[in-house]
Amino acid sequence: MSRRRHLVELRQASPVVLPSLLLCDFGNLEREVRQLEEAGVRGLHLDVMDGQFVPNLTYGMPIVEACRRLTDLPLDVHLMIKQPQQYISQFCDAGADIITIHAEAVDSPSEVLSQIHDLDCGAGLAINPDTPIESIESCLSLCDLVLVMSVQAGFGGQSFRPIALDKLRTLKQLVNENTLLEVDGGVNGKTIRDCAAAGAQLFVVGSAIFRETSYRDAVQNLTDLALLA
Ligand code: DX5
Ligand code: ZN
Repeated sequence: MSRRRHLVELRQASPVVLPSLLLCDFGNLEREVRQLEEAGVRGLHLDVMDGQFVPNLTYGMPIVEACRRLTDLPLDVHLMIKQPQQYISQFCDAGADIITIHAEAVDSPSEVLSQIHDLDCGAGLAINPDTPIESIESCLSLCDLVLVMSVQAGFGGQSFRPIALDKLRTLKQLVNENTLLEVDGGVNGKTIRDCAAAGAQLFVVGSAIFRETSYRDAVQNLTDLALLA
């Protein structure tokens, strides 16, 4: 079955809180994934950084593969790397269901989004806080997902930038109903409701889950707050 079916399931389940594994205990990855499954999460968000596009390094295909072996949850892979087009098929082979590239990292986002579609993965396009929506308007019809960064990509634990709310509101008017809107960075109990009201459907959360003792309570509380919007 197509991996793109996950897009429909995520849309139907929205608001969906997606844990960003950046802050998890990689020495106990299986335990972390089980705890997140038990917390009822609908997918995992994996942040791939190359030390070039962003000044931080994380992990690549082996961790995506490891997560794939551990769970059937959709894997939402956020590529913060230069030249993502060179690695799309490898991330797809590793088990990614959604692959999101950064508009700032490529000359022609449309070509890379099509490349992702051709491999039967969901195609996402991310923009950093200083990147205007106009710069991606021409490729919105090719996006299964638009990721609005509410911090500059690169590190967890940063403060939420409200410019993301304006962008979400604008995008909501521009995209078709099948395109998922995702927000990432500084999403927590104070900011998630505004994000939901602005149109976000998927909420990437790092610190506000992994710095809590109960993932279940954290995910539930955040989901409840998003539902209030
Ligand atoms: C930042 C990453 C995020 C980040 C979220 O570049 O894309 O996914 O880890 O972490 P918090 O929720 O701590 O901002
Ligand atoms: Zn991310």
